[in-house]
Amino acid sequence: MEAQWNAVEQYFTSWLIPDQPVLEEAIQAMQQAGLPAIQISPAEGQLLSILARSIKARTILEIGTLGGYSAIWLARTLPIDGKMVTLEANPKHADVARANIANAGLSGQVQVRVGPALDHLPNLLKEFGAAFDFVFIDADKPNNKAYFEWAVKLTHPGSMIIIDNVVRSGEVANLASRDSSVQGVHQLMPALAAASAISAAAVQTVGSKGYDGFAICLVGASEG
Ligand code: SAH
Ligand code: DHB
Ligand code: MG
Repeated sequence: MEAQWNAVEQYFTSWLIPDQPVLEEAIQAMQQAGLPAIQISPAEGQLLSILARSIKARTILEIGTLGGYSAIWLARTLPIDGKMVTLEANPKHADVARANIANAGLSGQVQVRVGPALDHLPNLLKEFGAAFDFVFIDADKPNNKAYFEWAVKLTHPGSMIIIDNVVRSGEVANLASRDSSVQGVHQLMPALAAASAISAAAVQTVGSKGYDGFAICLVGASEG
């Protein structure tokens, strides 16, 4: 199956996603720096980009920067006066990300803040209030519930919150799972269900990232 998933992803990618040297250079720089290759795929980048553009996001928050690959996909959707903040605990990852973001010509719009995300989020609320239009949560999975609850505070009706890696090869359906990343999803779901005025869909994905998925949340939807 895995070979077929990859062939199908390659087929659609070859038709739907233009070559983007800046993104390929970012991947190369990440490899050279020895960062793990756990960034989103080009197909997922295109999906995030379409979602951010469809809500005309002007202010974007990312939790979990790695080498800045998803940040570049998202920041490229911003209008000229748009802003993105991306949070990264690992200073080495943050350095690689800053260089990649500079190479993409996006340094004026993207701030990489270094340190555990939970240390930064209260300050972001003071600085930005509920101004974020789009939040991408893709850091340490055991903190997913906490990140989601901060994302709700930092967003407003019409905003979108995306949480990566909620399927974990299907292990999410194993309620007895001892994997702390899976438990992070199990803790997230009641918070999602309890959040007022949020509609969420979890989408299972297969391809170069294996079998995984996203939760896509729309803030301020009165139904569903
Ligand atoms: N969004 C990136 C991939 C992120 S990988 C992309 O698709 O391109 C997850 C990242 O979260 C790693 O770089 C890891 O160092 C970072 N991370 C882990 N724990 C964190 C924490 N507590 N606060 C902020 N970042 C964290
Ligand atoms: C891992 C983390 C991710 O954010 C991802 O998209 C894929 C894998 C991981 O920690 O293995
Ligand atoms: Mg991820």
